[in-house]
Amino acid sequence: MRIVVTGGAGFVGSHLCERLLAEGHTVVAIDNLITGSVDNIAHLRDPRFEFIHHDVSKSIYLAGPVDFVFHLASPASPVDYLEYPIQTLKVGSLGTHNALGLAKEKRAGLLFASTSEVYGDPDVNPQPESYHGNVSTTGLRGCYDEAKRFGEALVMAYHRQHRLSTRIVRIFNTYGPRMRLNDGRVVPQFIGQALRGEDLTVYGDGHQTRSFCYVDDTVDGIWRLANWVGDAVVGPGGQVLRDEAMPVNIGNPEERTIRQFAEEILHLVGSRSQLTFRPCPTDNDPMQRRPDISRAREKLGWEPRVPFAEGMQRTIEDLRNRLAL
Ligand SMILES: NC(=O)c1ccc[n+]([C@@H]2O[C@H](COP(=O)([O-])OP(=O)(O)OC[C@H]3O[C@@H](n4cnc5c(N)ncnc54)[C@H](O)[C@@H]3O)[C@@H](O)[C@H]2O)c1
Repeated sequence: MRIVVTGGAGFVGSHLCERLLAEGHTVVAIDNLITGSVDNIAHLRDPRFEFIHHDVSKSIYLAGPVDFVFHLASPASPVDYLEYPIQTLKVGSLGTHNALGLAKEKRAGLLFASTSEVYGDPDVNPQPESYHGNVSTTGLRGCYDEAKRFGEALVMAYHRQHRLSTRIVRIFNTYGPRMRLNDGRVVPQFIGQALRGEDLTVYGDGHQTRSFCYVDDTVDGIWRLANWVGDAVVGPGGQVLRDEAMPVNIGNPEERTIRQFAEEILHLVGSRSQLTFRPCPTDNDPMQRRPDISRAREKLGWEPRVPFAEGMQRTIEDLRNRLAL
């Protein structure tokens, strides 16, 4: 297949490109490098791999056939989307529209990378796909959360109106090699601080929870979802939809508090740093985050396989090497 990956020079996107090439496909990565880097794809020297530097919030023209579109382009860490709120809203709306337009023109399938952030600061734990979320439209995180919620609605509209073959994956916190040291996400932040011998900055009281999934597991879930062809199901209002078009959570249900996580990182890095506590820089920070992955287990036969300590060690090694450079 010839597969397009928007956001292909990003953290998850570059791992997905790698997996698609390993599966024997031809890959076109489209990225404007706003938060990604060509360093992430420099090793993909393969005649089946092509990189196009382009902002997908503007029209996408591509010659030749396309069989599938993975739409991952979007700033994804709080530091990034707080710096680029308008670009984040544009890529979630206009970018998703353009990616859907490309899929429609080429009669291709499309998978939209949504996020656990559509659940906002949830009232239920773990979060099943049926939970509608608790998001503030006007809060600082609104630019990201609402862009993704709009993106999901647009994907469903194309599925309903144009019968496009679509998938929506709600990705929960994913970590692994190639995360940016200063992207503000808790995994590279804690590891970077521990490696530099600095104190680890915990926002809030550290009782908020997160669940971390290793990137290879996330990519495997995304790939299985793209390949899944389910049954017809009756959606809201009695309309018949494809089961595979309905959202699927991909994440690791192993939940830990941020405080516990900080202590585990200190142990894994072998650091004597301390924890310092600061007020949270964004509002509506989720107090709990844990995926209900029953649907992924049942329909995709998927669950995370890489143990926490092993995935973190690989990530620590990668960040250690990059810090040394
Ligand atoms: N990593 C996670 O934990 C996580 C969790 C939930 C959802 N997601 C979603 O997965 C996707 C990838 O996230 P990531 O962690 O790899 O982030 P990332 O920032 O590393 O990758 C995003 C990529 O999209 C590119 N991009 C952004 N706007 C673009 C535009 N207008 N045109 C073209 N390219 C553009 C960036 O340059 C970057 O390479 C995002 O859609 C994100 O919302 C990630």
